[in-house]
Amino acid sequence: MCGIAGYVGYREAAPLLTGALRKLEYRGYDSAGIAVLETEGVLTVCKAKGPLDALERRLAEGMPHGTLGIGHTRWATHGEPSDINSHPHTDTHGAIAVVHNGIIENYLPLKQWLEARGAVFQSDTDTEVIAQLVSYYYHVEEARTHTSLFDAVLSALYRLEGSYALAVAAAAFPDRLIAVRKDSPLIIGLGTKENFLASDAPALLAHTREVYYLEDHEAAVVYRDHVDLYTGEGERIIKNPVHVDWDTAAAEKAGYAHFMLKEIHEQPRAVTDTLRPRLVYDSAGIPCDINLDALDLFKTPLRRIVLTACGTAAHAAIVAKYAFIRLARIHAEVELASEFRYGEPLLSSDDLVIVVSQSGETADTLAAMRSVKKSGARLLAITNVVGSTLARETDATFYTWAGPEIAVASTKAFTTQLICLYLIALKAGFVQGALNNERYRAALAGLEALPSGIEAVLSQTELVQRFAARQFNKSKVFFMGRQFDYATALESALKLKEINYTHSEAFAAGELKHGPIALVDTDTLVVVIATDPALFDKVVSNIREVRSRGASTLVITRKGAGETAFAPVAEEVLTLPETTEAAFAPLLAVIPAQLFAYYCAVQRGNDPDKPRNLAKSVTVE
Ligand code: AGP
Repeated sequence: MCGIAGYVGYREAAPLLTGALRKLEYRGYDSAGIAVLETEGVLTVCKAKGPLDALERRLAEGMPHGTLGIGHTRWATHGEPSDINSHPHTDTHGAIAVVHNGIIENYLPLKQWLEARGAVFQSDTDTEVIAQLVSYYYHVEEARTHTSLFDAVLSALYRLEGSYALAVAAAAFPDRLIAVRKDSPLIIGLGTKENFLASDAPALLAHTREVYYLEDHEAAVVYRDHVDLYTGEGERIIKNPVHVDWDTAAAEKAGYAHFMLKEIHEQPRAVTDTLRPRLVYDSAGIPCDINLDALDLFKTPLRRIVLTACGTAAHAAIVAKYAFIRLARIHAEVELASEFRYGEPLLSSDDLVIVVSQSGETADTLAAMRSVKKSGARLLAITNVVGSTLARETDATFYTWAGPEIAVASTKAFTTQLICLYLIALKAGFVQGALNNERYRAALAGLEALPSGIEAVLSQTELVQRFAARQFNKSKVFFMGRQFDYATALESALKLKEINYTHSEAFAAGELKHGPIALVDTDTLVVVIATDPALFDKVVSNIREVRSRGASTLVITRKGAGETAFAPVAEEVLTLPETTEAAFAPLLAVIPAQLFAYYCAVQRGNDPDKPRNLAKSVTVE
């Protein structure tokens, strides 16, 4: 996720752009930049690695003057944070500048294609291909018909796969900006003799509250005194502006009350962004393989996988342990990073150690990673932050493309970590012969269905909210499940602990009689996670046992068979869509648990974004 801004009007563009970027910093803050069309027709680009302050310091040394410009605050995906990789990116001639929020999945073949036609690239980003492609269609001989910038942008879009919100400025067109979107947000703010562009409303509210929300595949040519709106095919359309009445704080959260809730709802998109660029599609558009070539994981057979992480990332690792065993038939184990670093682990060059960390800065996780490097075992990092210490110190890094996670309680980091781990487990299973082609392809289709599965779970939010209103004050909450559901239970209990400050514990359902049942009384809520029909009967007896001791119960189970099995015995049943593999169920089952923790915390009057005693990133031991 990144933030983009644009201005065309009568005022100095540079300070307006940096002001807008300040309001968009929550969307990305590893680098920032602007391009201003100066009065003599030169596009001047100024950009800097680091937070917006670094750009402002650079601008203080020499501010470009002009009344049209674009800006960007970056959360790196392709190419580490650096001055060169910061946006705006320009074509080889420096005459067309682009800012982009999204991911261009086919940027590598496009880059090669453009290089073969003379384009000279500066950065490692996917975005630069857009500037070069627009330039190609604007300039090349065989495309002379593309006389206008807008036509060139539309022609470029036909070549792009992935998601984008784009703002384009060109030296030859001092009167206009081009804006287009697909799967990433973009808003046009309407002023008087000036108009604005931004990823999100907070960047506009100081200047206007009248906006056009661009829908997918819509485009706009933004002039000083008017805006022309188009379909992606270039047909003119008419829309009514919308009046935004949020205050700035609400707008940063896209109208959600808290970042945590916004991030819960971002999961369909975050999962799609993490998944799709790694899938290979056949000519019918059906996923047929996973491309993990860059990670170079399968040069020799994988015999043992060790996963290490802290907190939520460790819970994703526990799901992965079961997934590696079930899908790839590879021995896998998980060690908390805080234990691993002191555990003198037995590792050899046959082992693959996967280190998982959203921030890539957790002290214990980094220490674990460094001890693996000394052991000679193969090492892979999964992280959300390009350029983080973990990414820099590890040769092979697999990124979750979740965008910045602001809330302390991790949500979209967990589900996107699962996607990365599922991809590795499935590929390993296929390459090493544990999965036949049929099951492999069915599993890939199942992965693709997960974002809509999340949407289906999110549509039951009201039910969760009502249940939370009745249960938030329980003094004990136990989460139980078996196998994959046990992993989900661990993550669910952590969420409730973190933000509702409830004593919540997870245990493997089979352990109930071995101790935990002694704690069950009328002030206890037991949340049962049961996604595997083969285990339903056993779980039904567990529920009867706790209900007979006065506990309240919620069951998170799959539609159909799950409802039939649990509706007669549980107080509340929440259903999940089916998944093609049992391994994928935690990615859906965790969503109601995230919502439940969130609504309990709100009911109690806690701030879910800033839980007491906790920091987003634990950079000390
Ligand atoms: C999750 O909700 C927590 N805030 C915490 O457990 C977190 O997952 C843990 O500190 C690990 O962080 P990392 O993924 O950035 O390494």
